Amino acid sequence: MSTLATDAAVVTRAARLRGELWLPGDKSISHRALMLATIATGASRIEGAGDGADVRSTAAACAALGADVERIEPAVGARNVDYRVVSPGVDGLQAPAADIDCGNSGTSLRLLAGIVAQLPFRTVLDGDDSLRRRPVARIIEPLRAMGATLHARADDSLPPLTVFGRRPLRAVDRRTSVPSAQVKSAILLAALGADGRTVVREAIATRDHTERMLRARGVAVTTESLSAAEPEGRVGGVAVSLEGGQTVHAIDERVPGDVSAAAFWLVGASIHPDAEITLRGVGVNPTRRAVIDILLAMGADIEETPVIEAARGEARPEDAGEPIADLRVRSASLHGIELGPADVASAIDEIPILCLAASVASGPTTIRGAGELRHKESDRIAGTAAGLRALGADVDVDGDDVRLRGGAILHGAETDSLDDHRLAMTFAVAGLTAAGRTTIGRPLSASISYPGFFDDLGRVIS
Ligand code: S3P
Repeated sequence: MSTLATDAAVVTRAARLRGELWLPGDKSISHRALMLATIATGASRIEGAGDGADVRSTAAACAALGADVERIEPAVGARNVDYRVVSPGVDGLQAPAADIDCGNSGTSLRLLAGIVAQLPFRTVLDGDDSLRRRPVARIIEPLRAMGATLHARADDSLPPLTVFGRRPLRAVDRRTSVPSAQVKSAILLAALGADGRTVVREAIATRDHTERMLRARGVAVTTESLSAAEPEGRVGGVAVSLEGGQTVHAIDERVPGDVSAAAFWLVGASIHPDAEITLRGVGVNPTRRAVIDILLAMGADIEETPVIEAARGEARPEDAGEPIADLRVRSASLHGIELGPADVASAIDEIPILCLAASVASGPTTIRGAGELRHKESDRIAGTAAGLRALGADVDVDGDDVRLRGGAILHGAETDSLDDHRLAMTFAVAGLTAAGRTTIGRPLSASISYPGFFDDLGRVIS
C-alpha cells in the first residue's frame, strides 16, 4: 500500500513486485536537447523528454533567451513530453527580461552558464534555496579563464550567478577541479563560441551526453583517453576537445529512458524477496550504466536485452547517440562491495539507492571518496545515512567515506527526503521491503526527476 500527500507519503511492505514500466525521459539528455536546440538555428523536435520540474526549468530558460519553445502536451497517461524548439540560433539569442530561475536544477544553472558566457549581454542565473547552497566556483573559474565576466554570492561561491558574456571567448586547455559532467559540459558549450581549440581534461571520465549530442548535431568533438594523451594520466581519465566556431545543427531526437530512474526499481526488485520488473527503453550509455554493473557485481539478477547497440554501430543521432536496452530485474541475494572515487563519479546520482542495496546485502560495503554527494540537492551523505539508520541499517560515515555493515532487516520508520528527489525515492523503495509503515517526509520532491514515481510504485505492488 502507499498513500501520498504533500507533507508525507506512507509505504508499507509489498507482498510482491511485478510489472513493466516505461521510465521518464533521461533528465541529463532532456536538458541538453533543449539547450542545444536553443543554440542551433531552426526547428528541432525533442520526443519523450522528461517532464520533471528540472527539465521544465531548462525549457523556461531557453524561452527566456529567445527560443520559441513549444511544449506538446502528452497524451493522457503518457509520462513524457515532446518539445518543438525554433531558435534564431546562438547569434540571435537575446538578453532575458528577468533573472532566469533554474529552480532546483544544478544542471540547468551550470550548463546554461556555459551558453550565456558567449552571449554579449548580462544574464543572471538563480534558483531555489537548495540551488542557492550549491557551489558555482567550479564553473566561474574556467569560464573566467575563457574571458567571460562572472560574479556570484558569498565571494563568488554560490548562486545567484551573474554572467556578462563575451564573443569570441578564448580557447583554453583546462583540467576540471572536480569530476563533474556539468563542469565539463559548461566548458564545452562555451568552447563553441571560442577562438581556437578548447581541451577539457578529466581525471575521472564523467557522463558524455554533451559530446554525443554535439556530434549528432554535426560538431566534431574528440575524446582521447588521458592515459594515452599524457604519460601521467590516470586510467579512466579523458581529454575532450573541440574547435570553436562550429555550427550546431538543429535535429529531431528521441530521449531514452532515464537509467537513474531505473535504478530505483533495479534495487527495489533486487532486495525484495518476490519481485520481477521489466524496464523498457532504458539508456545504457557506458558512462551512465555503472549502477547496473555495480548491482551485477553485488549479485543482482538483471537481464539486459539491447534495443539499440552502440557497439554494433546502431546508436543513432535520432536516439541522442545513445545505446538503449530493456532490463528485467528479479529478486536476488546481494553481497557487499568496495567502491572507490571513480565508481562514485560514474554512479553519482545512484549512490543513495545503492546504499539501500548495501544495507541489506550480506557483508560490508565501503564507498570511498563520496564527498561530492554533499553538494547535491541536499547533503546526500547525511540524508541517506539518517534515513537508512532510521530504517534499521548500520551506516557509518567517516569523512568522505561511507561504510555499511550489511545484513540489515529493515523496519518501517519516519524518514525525511530533505526535499531531495533521490532521497524521497530511496526511502519509498526501502518501504516496499521494510516491515510495517515507512513515512517519507516531503515526498513530492520525487517529481523533480520522476513525475509519476508514486503511480509507478502503486503499479508494481498491485
Ligand atoms: C549531471 C551531472 C551530475 C549529476 C546531475 C546531472 C548532468 O552532476 O549529479 O544529476 O546532467 O551533467 P555533476 O556532474 O556536477 O556531478
